[in-house]
Amino acid sequence: MKIAVSFLTSYYSKEKTIELITKTNADFIHVDIMDGGFVNHKNTELNFEGLLENVSKPLDIHLMCFDPIIYIKKLSILNPQYITFHLEATKDIVKTIEEIKMLGIKVGMALKPNTEVNEIKPYLALVDLVLVMSVEPGAGGQEFQEMSIKKIKELKNIREENNLKYAIEVDGGINATSINMVKDVDIAVVGSYVCKSNNYQQQIDNLK
Ligand code: DX5
Ligand code: ZN
Repeated sequence: MKIAVSFLTSYYSKEKTIELITKTNADFIHVDIMDGGFVNHKNTELNFEGLLENVSKPLDIHLMCFDPIIYIKKLSILNPQYITFHLEATKDIVKTIEEIKMLGIKVGMALKPNTEVNEIKPYLALVDLVLVMSVEPGAGGQEFQEMSIKKIKELKNIREENNLKYAIEVDGGINATSINMVKDVDIAVVGSYVCKSNNYQQQIDNLK
């Protein structure tokens, strides 16, 4: 299982947090982008391009924004590994998938806790990653919701039965206890468990 660290909730500034993550053996930096519409919080005014332009780790971008297509071109200069958008936030899903792919970036689709796996089924052959939210999107530091476990299993079964290739990622409330319930995901996103500590590497070691 790979670990993606989200710098959303931290004791330090964004710059310092990103620097500290870079020094660990985390597999990705997870970049949470919020529009203050699809979710209450807003951070789209941050200079993500400046913050992340010289970062050596692969970027895993999570757009919690309506009309995600409008952000994609600008973010593509960061050369991210994944751009993930929310099914619930998007009108033209196929067009958004194509736009991301056209830029040579892997595409992910995210599901809020109450969205059924059934709703994403028509797109599963088109995406590289499915992100299962195990908290309501919009804030770090919430408690892991166990209903995500069933969705992860369902997505794993569908992938096997249909010989599909998407990676499965879980995001929200992951710590050294909850990670044991989602051992079969490909990528686990971890925010406050790592960034609200004073030894990032130690926390990551506790998860692996
Ligand atoms: C929630 C974000 C998550 C969050 C994870 O809206 O998508 O990536 O930062 O933080 P923790 O691990 O604290 O739940
Ligand atoms: Zn996220």
